[in-house]
Amino acid sequence: MIGPRTFLEYRSYLYLKVAIVVLFASLVAYVLDEPAGGRSGSSWTGYALGTVAAGTIFWLMWLGVRKRDYRATGAPLKGWVSAHVYLGTALLFLVPLHSAFEFGMNVHTLAYVLMCVVIASGILGVAFYALVPTSMTRNRNNITLDAMLERIAEIDGECRLAAAGLPDYYARAVVTSIDQTRIGGSLRAQLSGVDADCGTSRALKSLRLSEIDLEGDGKAQERKLIELIARKELLLKQIRRDLRYKALLDLWLIVHVPFAFATCAALLVHVFVVFWYH
Ligand code: HEM
Ligand code: HEM
Repeated sequence: MIGPRTFLEYRSYLYLKVAIVVLFASLVAYVLDEPAGGRSGSSWTGYALGTVAAGTIFWLMWLGVRKRDYRATGAPLKGWVSAHVYLGTALLFLVPLHSAFEFGMNVHTLAYVLMCVVIASGILGVAFYALVPTSMTRNRNNITLDAMLERIAEIDGECRLAAAGLPDYYARAVVTSIDQTRIGGSLRAQLSGVDADCGTSRALKSLRLSEIDLEGDGKAQERKLIELIARKELLLKQIRRDLRYKALLDLWLIVHVPFAFATCAALLVHVFVVFWYH
């Protein structure tokens, strides 16, 4: 994911300006046109605005395809996202102009309501991207996560060495820390960002509470072990916090994408129904 500023400010707000021009032109068309039967979705202006809105929606759907096409040439992805965000938000006002502010308990209004959910979740998504530290969004490709996981594997190896020759109590703590530490897991686990039952925290606690009296080298090994496990616990906290951000970053898409498809379905029904009955 690209940072929100890079797409919100893309080319000095080019697509914000485009969206404002489109909305202003639509408003002018709406006000100037005074059809015989009164303003409505079935006047010529209504048809024109409806067609622009529907075209925009299907174009917005295309982002899902464009996002995954790494060989694509032409405008960079951040340009696409920029246009997506501003033109998508413009629909909030464009569709009421199309329907002449008529709404009712019908499939037409259902399409609009579904679309509003998509737009609201989109705005929420952008807010998430903006709130999450930029260091996270920059590291979406997991570079730091991989590095941290590697460091943990190293620490595990060092712990085994440090525990060698110490009483079993220490080896058990090391095994607990290695075998009973979970990273990631279910979406809920990721979103919580903590693991109350983390093997590493338990190991650290048992090491700190150890009543075994060690001397000389043993004492030094124990200290080293505690230091290693404490460092591992800190890394785990950081990893879990990062995973939580990542899960949060994508949470809104669980709403955004299915409702986008539902909007398209309702929209097709809407257009079918109006042509069938008119
Ligand atoms: C090809 C595009 C479209 C065409 C041809 C079209 C056509 C129409 C027509 C003819 C009406 C008037 C219906 C009536 O007076 O009973 C209407 C109303 C309406 N349209 Fe569209 N439309 C299009 C796109 C859209 C889109 C994209 C949305 C929203 C997502 C939408 C939402 C509505 C709503 C909410 C109404 C008002 C329904 C009511 O009076 O309760 N339309 N449309
Ligand atoms: C009717 C309006 C909209 C439709 C149909 C729509 C549809 C979509 C679709 C299909 C995707 C691709 C998701 C994926 O495959 O991962 C997407 C992504 C996205 N949408 Fe929308 N969207 C709409 C409005 C908005 C609005 C108003 C905003 C923000 C204000 C927004 C923000 C985003 C963002 C930030 C992404 C993710 C881009 C990325 O991951 O790089 N969308 N949208």
